[in-house]
Amino acid sequence: MSAQNTRVLPFGPEAVAEAARLIGEGQPVAVPTETVYGLAADATNGEAVARIYAAKGRPSFNPLIVHVRNLDQATEFTSFDEEACELATRYWPGPLTLIVPLKENIPIASLVTAGLATVAVRAPAHPAMQALLDAVGRPLAAPSANASGRISPTRADHVLASLGGRIPLIVDAGPTRHGIESTIVAATGGPLRLLRPGPIDLGLSVAAARVIEAPGQLESHYAPEKPLRLDARAAEPGEWLIGFDAVAGDVSLSPSGDLVEAAARLFALLHEADRQDRPAIAVAPIPEQGLGAAINDRLRRAAAPRGRG
Ligand code: TXA
Ligand code: MG
Repeated sequence: MSAQNTRVLPFGPEAVAEAARLIGEGQPVAVPTETVYGLAADATNGEAVARIYAAKGRPSFNPLIVHVRNLDQATEFTSFDEEACELATRYWPGPLTLIVPLKENIPIASLVTAGLATVAVRAPAHPAMQALLDAVGRPLAAPSANASGRISPTRADHVLASLGGRIPLIVDAGPTRHGIESTIVAATGGPLRLLRPGPIDLGLSVAAARVIEAPGQLESHYAPEKPLRLDARAAEPGEWLIGFDAVAGDVSLSPSGDLVEAAARLFALLHEADRQDRPAIAVAPIPEQGLGAAINDRLRRAAAPRGRG
């Protein structure tokens, strides 16, 4: 990613308008929430979400939290059961993230959920993030606004030190109130499960770590059902080939070899490959630079031999 000038604007109408303009162009922008500063992009634009990962230099894709204005906006693309509704009604806007089932045929980019059928949503209480959500009119995907491996930013200068030169704008509203990330609770059927402790204490203890028997079995990771072969330059019999660059394939992550486009299409094409009536999947070589490292990380996990079951 080429170096760019990172502007820091104090929170106000001008900063919000500029942030909304950049987000409309598919750029990620740093904006405070009541927990930590987030790096926000249009959750309906896969390439914009890919640019979050590019800016953070994150070597893997984790599902991101989708920020919404309120429960009404959340239920445009998710299903809340009664218990989840009660929690949202009681704690939103605020530092509570709920993992809920995603509806089908909704415009949320598959890179946001890293291909999962569930999604993390929260309605933040901070006026800057609220103003940005109002101005954009769409849900915003936002992880904490720090480079991979660095601590979460609670002030604009933390963001600047970590992501300066990699993002166009930081909206500065001073230190955040909580300073730790939101509480995450899964409400996907069965008892509620605490996945990450945070500012809101619901009296739940952290869900017991589940034994990982195979890549993709962990709740927060998607992997295709079928065997997957990497570094394929041509399909072998029975394989559905996902191409890239000069390898055309049955479908292509990016015919022009663009890694932002490839990241944006990765999970949708893995799902598509799983649905074909061919027993195996092959994927063309992806260069290990920039977003390619995160793409390869996910593909290597998907290709690793499966455990029992
Ligand atoms: O306070 C916060 O939550 C901040 C602000 C910016 O809102 N955001 C934040 O996002 O901490 P992030 O991306 O750093 O953490 C999101 C966490 C990750 O640990 C991810 O694995 C989990 O949420 N997560 C997201 N979707 C999930 C899903 N469908 N199932 C399980 N875990 C999920
Ligand atoms: Mg984080």
